[in-house]
Amino acid sequence: MRTALRTHVAGQLSEDQVGSQVRLCGWIETIRDHGGLLFFHLRDASGKLQVVVDPEDVGEDVWAAAESLHIEDCVSFSGKLIRRPEGMDRTSLDTKTIELEAQEVEVLNHSATPPFKPERPDLTSEEVRLTHRYLDLRSDSLQRALRTRARMISAMRSHLDGHEFLEVETPLLARSTPEGARDFLIPSRLNPGNFYALPQSPQIFKQILMIGGVDRYYQIAKCLRDEDLRANRQPEFTQLDLEMSFVEEEDVYGLVEGLLESVGQAIGREIAKPFPRLSYREAIDRYGTDAPDTRFGMEIVDLTDLFVYSNFRIFQRYASSGGSVRGILVPAALEPTRTEREAVRSYAKNHLGVPEPAWARMLSDGQFDSTVAKFSTQEEIQSVVERMGGGVDDVIFFMAGESADEVCRVLGRIRLFIAERSGLRPLDGPLAFAWVHGFPMFETEPGTDRLTSVHHPFTRPSELEVLQKGDRDQLLGLTARAYDLVLNGEEIGGGSLRIYQREAQQKVFELLQLTEDEIEDRFGFFLKALEFGAPPHGGIAFGLDRMASIFCGRKSIRDVIAFPKNQAGQCLLTGAPGEVDAEQLEELRITSLAVEEMFD
Ligand code: AMO
Repeated sequence: MRTALRTHVAGQLSEDQVGSQVRLCGWIETIRDHGGLLFFHLRDASGKLQVVVDPEDVGEDVWAAAESLHIEDCVSFSGKLIRRPEGMDRTSLDTKTIELEAQEVEVLNHSATPPFKPERPDLTSEEVRLTHRYLDLRSDSLQRALRTRARMISAMRSHLDGHEFLEVETPLLARSTPEGARDFLIPSRLNPGNFYALPQSPQIFKQILMIGGVDRYYQIAKCLRDEDLRANRQPEFTQLDLEMSFVEEEDVYGLVEGLLESVGQAIGREIAKPFPRLSYREAIDRYGTDAPDTRFGMEIVDLTDLFVYSNFRIFQRYASSGGSVRGILVPAALEPTRTEREAVRSYAKNHLGVPEPAWARMLSDGQFDSTVAKFSTQEEIQSVVERMGGGVDDVIFFMAGESADEVCRVLGRIRLFIAERSGLRPLDGPLAFAWVHGFPMFETEPGTDRLTSVHHPFTRPSELEVLQKGDRDQLLGLTARAYDLVLNGEEIGGGSLRIYQREAQQKVFELLQLTEDEIEDRFGFFLKALEFGAPPHGGIAFGLDRMASIFCGRKSIRDVIAFPKNQAGQCLLTGAPGEVDAEQLEELRITSLAVEEMFD
């Protein structure tokens, strides 16, 4: 780390170097004036060190320079490394037993008054932080996150390089890849009226690499999707994308588990193999979601049969007419007090738009305190408690409805709500991975009878014949050879075995109601490629930002991306997206309706 301007970096100095002459460069984080002595915390990329300037020891010009310093000034200090006086090591710095006794102070560049202190990002809004990202980047937390992220990527590369994968870059200026979002379009100046689509993923290219005999491919790939943003989504994000020839699911699972173990080792996180596996059905039934947080229990239990003859009319009606009654048990240890029960009920009503869930609590005398006590018999509740394995002071929440999936989904959300409030979903806790497989191949688009792919149209179904027969019920019951990797309740990766026969691929496009012309226009080149001995292949892609945010214990993926967009898809630092010159638009043969609308 020695350069022309410095001899050391702050964070790597230790007591062994006491007595050495050092020159450091960095930024002023804090300034304290202690009876004539000036104390600074100097920050560089490696850490921080306390610097003391004593007017008795330095010349007038050095003292003047020290006095002129403000926070975030870029500065160089030269001097002797000393042990801090006994009893004076009460600072928050890692290097608290040593400090630099400055002999020279050189102001490299003064800073304007910063709108916030990088070390206290919590004291300002995210908007201000994103607008002044260069200051935010100086914070310990972002520096650490970026370093962890880089270590993860480096471990991925070295693991995959060691397993005969070839890193290949695929184009950004491409045709549309259907991953379920809108495309970002780029007008072509050389081909007026035509547009490139930025890739939603390298999906088609990686499959063509397999057809091209590459065997094993990976890429740290930028993906671009014009979709509505949430905390864990960005319009521009990074995938670790990979594909392998001549494989089945077990090959992908094995490779990925080994890969993540290497990543864990590189950043000091323990990753237990093998990862548990759940079918899609099981995930919905037990957790009410296809991305279950498996760090804690409170699983959903089916109680439908217990209410078929109940006096509790609402439950009885659903239970006896094809609907469903299910429950989750909140253990007494989580203290499901009256306030907590009310919080759950109002969450269900106000956030999930469902009736307030009924509940029951077992008392020490074997009786029940319950919203359904008036209607249900003691035996009925007793049988529920037995099925759920409950004890004194445990609380059971019930939901009933026409659709079992919907009941599970609601209880799944309530389960997470309770877990969140009870501290069962810590940002920095253990890492719980799970494979979810056996997804349906198709679903219907809400409000229509159109089939859409649950994963994407290149996914191989478990039975090819069902595609050919085209029976709608069978198609909706068809499973896909697709899998997701879930971490702490978040989908961090998804992939599948792919269709590699032209006819089957064409059939899927037809079932998705693409016309012959559309198929030819959008995917003709790909169908053609499948005609030339395409090998069986499959792969997966990981959301690198999501993975890094969970590994780093951050709430949002914006906290592990150097230059993220805000919720409106804007880069507050550069002002993107911005207007462009009329000439540029003219060159591209584009007129903007937005401009016309302004003058309407
Ligand atoms: P999929 O669309 O599931 O699969 O994407 C893979 C993973 O990418 C992450 N991800 C995102 N991260 C941040 N912002 C977004 N907008 C965003 N969208 C997705 C998720 C997700 O699990 N081509 C297929 C992969 C394959 O079949 O091999 C694909 O892109 O963590």
